[in-house]
Amino acid sequence: MRLGVCYYPEHWPESMWEDDARRMKALGIEQVRIAEFAWSRMEPTPGEYDWGWLDRAVDVLGAAGLQVVMCTPTATPPKWLIDRHPDILPIGADGRPRAFGSRRHYDFSSPSYFTASQRICTAVAERYGEHPAVAYWQTDNEFGCHHTVVSYSPAAVGRFREWLKARYQTIDALNRAWGTVFWSMEYRSFDEIDAPVATVTEAHPSHRLDYRRFASDEVARYNRMQVEIIRAHSPGRPVAHNFMQLFTEFDHYKVATDLDVAAWDSYPLGALEEQWFAPDVKARWLRSGHPDFASFNHDVYRGMSKLPFWVMEQQPGPVNWAQWNPAPLPGMVRLWSWEAFAHGAGCVSYFRWRQAPFAQEQMHAGLNTPDNRLDVGGNEAAQVADEIRAVLAANADADAAIRSKVALVYDYEAKWLFEIHPQGADFHYPRFAFEYYSALRALGLDVDIVPVDAALDGYRLIVVPPLPVVPADFAARLASSGAQVVLGPRTGSKTADVQIPANLPPGALASVLPLRVWRVESMRPNVTEAVLLVDNQSATQEDGVARHWRDFIDSDAADSLDVRARFADGHPAYVKSGAFHYLASLFDDALTVRLLKRIAGEAGVETTSLGDTVRFSRRGALTYVLNYGDQTYTLADVADDAFVIGSRAIEPQGVAVYRSGN
Ligand code: GAL
Repeated sequence: MRLGVCYYPEHWPESMWEDDARRMKALGIEQVRIAEFAWSRMEPTPGEYDWGWLDRAVDVLGAAGLQVVMCTPTATPPKWLIDRHPDILPIGADGRPRAFGSRRHYDFSSPSYFTASQRICTAVAERYGEHPAVAYWQTDNEFGCHHTVVSYSPAAVGRFREWLKARYQTIDALNRAWGTVFWSMEYRSFDEIDAPVATVTEAHPSHRLDYRRFASDEVARYNRMQVEIIRAHSPGRPVAHNFMQLFTEFDHYKVATDLDVAAWDSYPLGALEEQWFAPDVKARWLRSGHPDFASFNHDVYRGMSKLPFWVMEQQPGPVNWAQWNPAPLPGMVRLWSWEAFAHGAGCVSYFRWRQAPFAQEQMHAGLNTPDNRLDVGGNEAAQVADEIRAVLAANADADAAIRSKVALVYDYEAKWLFEIHPQGADFHYPRFAFEYYSALRALGLDVDIVPVDAALDGYRLIVVPPLPVVPADFAARLASSGAQVVLGPRTGSKTADVQIPANLPPGALASVLPLRVWRVESMRPNVTEAVLLVDNQSATQEDGVARHWRDFIDSDAADSLDVRARFADGHPAYVKSGAFHYLASLFDDALTVRLLKRIAGEAGVETTSLGDTVRFSRRGALTYVLNYGDQTYTLADVADDAFVIGSRAIEPQGVAVYRSGN
């Protein structure tokens, strides 16, 4: 458990660096990320490197006892490079290149950019690979930020054709898989296939999904190139990438395979403002962020990181990029930091050391104000540093790994498929995954978020949000795990080629769930359907409502299906067969919590009903309690001397950590 900060020596006079480094160290910062946007200073003119300033910056930080996270600067190719190779610019859906003048203006498929990136990465890695102050690396910065995964350039289309050839081998196989006989879309060779863009009406969904898969693979390939260069010149130093919150435009599991550390950038207030949450939800959590949002991301990245995951950028105060940018409540920067450690983080690194007085992000807070005084976030970071020392001194296993009894399956292709082929305009996959997760957290449960091909043995409860494409062995792996399994609607509803399975949904899951989804309907946001629990004797009125979607279920083996809830019109809303629970809709939050509580009980997993303001996490022998609410929360049964941080009464925005045993 340690703290870091993001620092831009190139933004400040060199006369400030030593004092900055000294104050970072005094504050309790241990690692400093630098240089991810510094290409124009590393190589001011083509082929002429200027390392002097960066050498001195690294030396100053190292001399102060700080560890450097060195970055490759490829998120910001300089102007001269773009002018020499205009094909670096990605092409938008409108057919036009995206312009120089901000960042991430590059196409993952551009051969010139691949070569230029190899060259600058090699130069940086050679220069600093063995420097004693450089302890870690970061590749690039936030792959995909600002919608930069997909490009429609000739280079991308050319590589897409190769990708298709490798996947389908023959054009006949592709025509069959996609079903191109529909609307006379048949192709005679791979070279006839373009990007699925600018069509008169919607482009073919299988074509679109393959283009997304291809674009995602391009990100993985580009990152792998950088990682290999860094490893060759800087052996033994872990390599990280800073992913984004709830970002789904490429398959993060595939990129993380090549990394040592999956890191992510946590901006709870900006995220709340920019995500799907309703206006009253946004207003309620305005200055704290949603209690489950950062933790959802922690659990996503924990699951894919070989070493403990990091928060590479932690919001320190108001940001600049959301529609509205409120200030966090006092205490939230501390709470967010402890929340990360509670979920297994190895490092929380604040963005940024000092607020910049110029350029795009001048309204974004730092740990220090532009006139170099410690801001609220800076003071809270200092408090966290003191508390970390106390926690580590008193608890040998405070850094322990987390092992949960509950797994939630999270999949990137599901997001793309539902986006491409939604059937209901608001069928937003990450939202539904988040709602299940949030219900589990409201029951006090620790959750591992895992890919669809994860090993599932050892879990007692496995929750699968709507998962259209299920691997052929999924049913068998779920069954042999011995867990109770909850499947959301639309699970098993498509083949990998985006066709309806021959036996109808749930397709390959019919072996464990003897049912058939014979019709579906999507529901407008202002429409709900009543849901009634079958075993609720007194239920003459609804137990909750269904939203967004309905699967209509029947079965040739009705005897082996236990119908546990029905819609008001009598159709099954929730059925169970053996250990498999199928939800035919997305229910309101309270009903979701109620059903998951019951199923957790059947799985032998103990729950605590927490409501929506207090959250528990267990790591090693320590239990962490975080209060997102506006009332003091009092822990009933914890001895006073068990507390490592805080006490039984946890104030709003407060944190308590106590020894609870394993
Ligand atoms: C991140 C990015 C940083 C900075 C920050 C502002 O997305 O990696 O460079 O822009 O947001 O909140």
